[in-house]
Amino acid sequence: MSKPDLNRHGNSETLAAGAADFIVAAARKSILERKRFTLVLTGGSTPEQTYRMLARPERASQVDWSRMFVFAGDERFVPESDSRSNFGMARRALLDHVPVPAENLFPISTSCASPAEGARLYGELLGRFFNQAPGSAPVPAFDLLLLGLGDDGHVASLFPGMPTLDVKEQWVTWSPPGTLPPPVDRITLTIPVINAARSVLFLVSGEKKAAIVYRVLEDPPDYKRVPATGVRPSSGSLHWFIDEPAASKLGPGEPPA
Ligand code: 6PG
Repeated sequence: MSKPDLNRHGNSETLAAGAADFIVAAARKSILERKRFTLVLTGGSTPEQTYRMLARPERASQVDWSRMFVFAGDERFVPESDSRSNFGMARRALLDHVPVPAENLFPISTSCASPAEGARLYGELLGRFFNQAPGSAPVPAFDLLLLGLGDDGHVASLFPGMPTLDVKEQWVTWSPPGTLPPPVDRITLTIPVINAARSVLFLVSGEKKAAIVYRVLEDPPDYKRVPATGVRPSSGSLHWFIDEPAASKLGPGEPPA
């Protein structure tokens, strides 16, 4: 795989603005070429800031929201009204403020009996959307998949050392909590789905991410201990938007935007 496209920004605000501009451009291109844009959201504080930037009228007005289809990369097993819900956060920061039709939103259901059931149901939902049997090949290719980066190297809800890392035959699985809060079960896309995306965009900010950013970008890949090193789109592109505090252990780059 070629080196990721690294976009360094001065601070979390310019990072979020740059990432929101990237999403707008990706959506416009995809809608022009394929008549729709399938976007996978992630949880976390850096993405939240990006969603707020995307909701601003100057950006939101550039996108045909009727052709946007919005999915979740992972979800905490709590009701959407719970402040810890990833999709709940995305609604408050973005989806409640843009004219996206309700039927184009595909949150992971957490009203079912167990996270295992939620994972099965989301796999079936993806099967219906992409018009194929859940878990079958080829793995669906989302147009753009967003990821945060946990301090421990997790992405989506693929935590270090967990059996979820080995799930290759299903598109969606569930995980017990990792070591970082919140301590709730999760439902997550699996690594083959992440790597099948046409574009993957990491959003990472803050000094506390500096060590793990260095480990992911500069050290040899070690998927089991640092799941983010397993993110290697098979034919898609890989982009990183990071701010200078998160990039501080990397060598000097181009002057930040
Ligand atoms: C979750 C996420 C998770 C998140 C990272 C980074 O549910 O917690 O989807 O993968 O993106 O932990 O989050 P921050 O940007 O808040 O550090």
